[in-house]
Amino acid sequence: MNLLKGKTAIVTGASRGIGRAISVALAQHGVNLALSSRSMESLKGILEETTALGVDALPCPADIADPDSPAEIVRKTVDRFGGIDILINNAGIAIPRHICETPTEEWDLHMAINARAPFLMCREAIPYLRKSEAATIINISSVVGNKGYVNQGAYTASKHALMGMTKVLAQEVHGDGIRVHVISPGGVATEMAQITRPDLDMSELITPEEIVDIVMFLLTHRGNAVIDEINVRRAGNQPWK
Ligand SMILES: NC(=O)c1ccc[n+]([C@@H]2O[C@H](COP(=O)([O-])OP(=O)(O)OC[C@H]3O[C@@H](n4cnc5c(N)ncnc54)[C@H](OP(=O)(O)O)[C@@H]3O)[C@@H](O)[C@H]2O)c1
Repeated sequence: MNLLKGKTAIVTGASRGIGRAISVALAQHGVNLALSSRSMESLKGILEETTALGVDALPCPADIADPDSPAEIVRKTVDRFGGIDILINNAGIAIPRHICETPTEEWDLHMAINARAPFLMCREAIPYLRKSEAATIINISSVVGNKGYVNQGAYTASKHALMGMTKVLAQEVHGDGIRVHVISPGGVATEMAQITRPDLDMSELITPEEIVDIVMFLLTHRGNAVIDEINVRRAGNQPWK
């Protein structure tokens, strides 16, 4: 039985990379979608792809660095679908730079997009998630949510902040039946990795579809076992490092 059919999900960063792959998989499972990225133009492709799969897909173009955007995305979603079952906080940026050369605005931008926006998305969506029997939040963090990588200071700090928020939130909404998961991948073959890690061979990176498999596992296994965090490393990387 398809437990996800007819449910509603918000996916941020749906225009490309991991978010786009997640959106396609959700549409294949019959999930109606609120798709967010900065512009209508960038959402065009994923809108066509998901609606062609027979689901209702609502474009929510918004810059989530703006603190008013999350409430607007949630409002639009609820107006269209009447509720929210799944929230995927995936949108993110990573600008590689030494901490000593990082402009204050660039630091703040990482924090606004990678940490504050997921917090605001959760805060605004939770009143609706509380009413869903399938309520799930999945935050896409990174290996740098737990470690520190040179020239990724602002990115690393923002993902640590996301991890901290996720750990507290998971406990605070546990009694409401809302499951909160975090996925912490190493390099995934997307535009972001091309920019942040030009030294890596793209063919050796994790594929977005492999992250999708994990997302779909989390969403379709609502038994007595719950996975709080999934760390995912590249096969070429040393285990436990
Ligand atoms: N790729 C990796 O190696 C890797 C590894 C670990 C974790 N992650 C995490 O995975 C997530 C997705 O990364 P990705 O590799 O798929 O990145 P990507 O290909 O660069 O895509 C980023 C997505 O975020 C959206 N976005 C960026 N800034 C935004 C803003 N201000 N407002 C709204 N949307 C915004 C982009 O939309 P538009 O540009 O179209 O507006 C795009 O859809 C991120 O949280 C990233 O930190 C990635």
